[in-house]
Amino acid sequence: MSIVVRILSLGWAIMMIMSITNVADGAIPNDLQEKISLINREGPYLGIVVPNRFEMNPLLESSNFLPHDTIPHLDHAGRRFRIGTLENRKVVVVMSGLSMLNSGVATQLLLSVFRIHGVLHLGSAGGANPEIQIGDVTIPHYWAHTGLWNWQRFGDGPQDELAFESNGDYTRKYGYLRFADYQARKEGEKSSDNYLNRVWYQPEEIFYGDGEPEIREHAFWVPIDKHYYSLAKNLENIVLERCVNSSLCLPQPPKVVRVRRGVSANVFVDNAAYREFLNSKFKATPVDMESAAVALVCRQQKTPFIAVRAISNLAGGTSSVDESAFSSLIVQNTVRVALNFITLASDAIENLDVAE
Ligand SMILES: *[C@@H]1O[C@H](CO)[C@@H](O)[C@H](O)[C@H]1NC(C)=O
Repeated sequence: MSIVVRILSLGWAIMMIMSITNVADGAIPNDLQEKISLINREGPYLGIVVPNRFEMNPLLESSNFLPHDTIPHLDHAGRRFRIGTLENRKVVVVMSGLSMLNSGVATQLLLSVFRIHGVLHLGSAGGANPEIQIGDVTIPHYWAHTGLWNWQRFGDGPQDELAFESNGDYTRKYGYLRFADYQARKEGEKSSDNYLNRVWYQPEEIFYGDGEPEIREHAFWVPIDKHYYSLAKNLENIVLERCVNSSLCLPQPPKVVRVRRGVSANVFVDNAAYREFLNSKFKATPVDMESAAVALVCRQQKTPFIAVRAISNLAGGTSSVDESAFSSLIVQNTVRVALNFITLASDAIENLDVAE
């Protein structure tokens, strides 16, 4: 081998090693990693996950939001993580996009990349509880994903084991929806069977971040953080805006309420029969498409979580209110509740630091 060939092949080998090193950095390039380290050194932060621009912008546009002076945002994996302070507390705000998949992905990215001491999720929701009015801002104690089903074969009933139930994969513990119960029929007509039979609601498999990898547990009702839930009691005193203008007001003054349960699934519910089912079966108040996913990810990563969801429509129920006329007012009210929570939660964390 000539000396030239040797040098060339040595150069080639070095280039190969360098490119392998780059690959080993994974999906986060070096320059981004440096910014992340800088940001994290100034943390921890409260993570804020919001489904869409309409619900996020009032938060960012509030005079309370101050972007970080050198790194106002970081773009990664199709998401923009906005760094700054709200009510003088350090926050990272991310828009997740619609649905369980997007909100789960955005939340996991947030928790994997940044030093986060807790997650606040906010948005609007359909209302399934007849005692709660449009415009009310709800804070459920528990969330469940109600879109994971075991669809039972025709002919089987509640006494019959589900497919793979004996493996421990599925359970009859959380109950079912029977399609024949919803047959539209004339007065006096008998209920008939329906080939769709029943769907049985299933808990999610979860894997704890600090647990044995690949060892699953199951979770259906996921509680929000105990401490956050008790802090949220103070939010019930907030006076919300009732009127869009001098002539357009909500029929009742809107209120902030802690409620028992909320449910989420990849389903936009604009159907009164299903809305009533979700309330009678699961005691659900807000019905949305993201909160339970954020709750489940936070649960797995053992990060404190709370969701603030304002009722912006009655999920197929009849309403005397023109829902769309109030949507901006409702988002503004939700942001007001969120800002109050941020102050409360960070005070509590600062007090913890002092206590340590
Ligand atoms: C109040 O707001 C509604 C909805 O935006 C609008 O139709 C109405 O004209 C407004 N009324 C006044 C007095 O500004």
